[in-house]
This record gives sequence, C-alpha cells and structure tokens, in this order.
Amino acid sequence: MNRREIITVAGGLALGARGAHGASPERMKPQIGDVLVHAFGDRVGSAISPADVKDDRIFAFAMASDGVIRDGSLHNQLSLLRVDEMAMSEKTRRYAAGPFLAVSAACTHTGCEVSGWQPDTHELICPCHGSRFAVLDAARVVLGPATKPLALLPIEQGDGVIRVAGKFSRRVGPEPTY
Ligand code: FES
Repeated sequence: MNRREIITVAGGLALGARGAHGASPERMKPQIGDVLVHAFGDRVGSAISPADVKDDRIFAFAMASDGVIRDGSLHNQLSLLRVDEMAMSEKTRRYAAGPFLAVSAACTHTGCEVSGWQPDTHELICPCHGSRFAVLDAARVVLGPATKPLALLPIEQGDGVIRVAGKFSRRVGPEPTY
C-alpha cells in the first residue's frame, strides 16, 4: 500500500468515526500560519513556493510551525491551483492569494478524493461518481451527484511560501447522514 492509499484509507475511516477528529496535531484542520507543503511526490513534506504552482494542480497538506504535517485525514488534503485572478468570482477572490487557490480535496458527495483537474474549464472532478466543481466560482457544483460546493481554504503568500490565512469556507467533505 503506497502513501496515498494509506492516507485515503485513513480518510475513509475518519468519515466513519464522527467526532474523532482533531485529537492529534496530524488530524487537526489547517491552522492559521501553517505552511502548505507537497503532499506527494519527490518533494513530499517540503514547502510549496508560489513558483511551484503552474498549470497543474498540486496536492498539499498544511504543516505546523513545529514541523508536524497535518496529513492524518483526507479531510486535510488540499488541491492548490493557479488560475486567472480576474476570472474569479468575488467570493472566490476572498479566499485566494493572488492567482492561488486552495480547495478541499474531500468530495462533498461521499468523501472521495477529488483527484481530477481540467485546467481548460477550471473544474475539479471527483472520479467516484463524476461530480464536477467550478473553482472560479467558489467551487460550486457544475455536475452532481454532489450538491454542495467544495470547501475553500483562505491562503496568503509571502516569504516564498503559501500559508493558511483562515478557516475553511464550509464543512469539509460530505454532510453527516444521521
Ligand atoms: S464521492 Fe465524489 S461524486 Fe461521489
């Protein structure tokens, strides 16, 4: 089982354990001042500089000032994107750092990893049941079965890194079914 599979399984388990979030630093939601780091690949765990974010989406986690990476839950995984700032809706721009946007990778339908990215239409795509989300318009649903937008995470850039600047715009992942 590779790192991504382990994280995905861990995220799935977390969905089935409501109320168990937040006990450890790894499972805490991104906190203000955390630095965004590469979630996968050759540079896993290293800080993402604005220059790293080009046309392709980068998966990211938040890292606390003491070096703890908050990768204990799929709910903490982010898609970091560079898009046309002028094409963003006003609401979207409130969460952006210039052209950069951080969007939750947890699908609001049943919680799969939203792993698809279509740069020409600026849509994030969930492979599980095909939901599509328009990142330029606050990650609203373009195509279901998801009915809720993905959560946006406010970010800021400075000192060559990208930092968390606030709380998620909405609940991360699916609504509870109880
Ligand atoms: S979990 Fe994403 S579309 Fe169903």
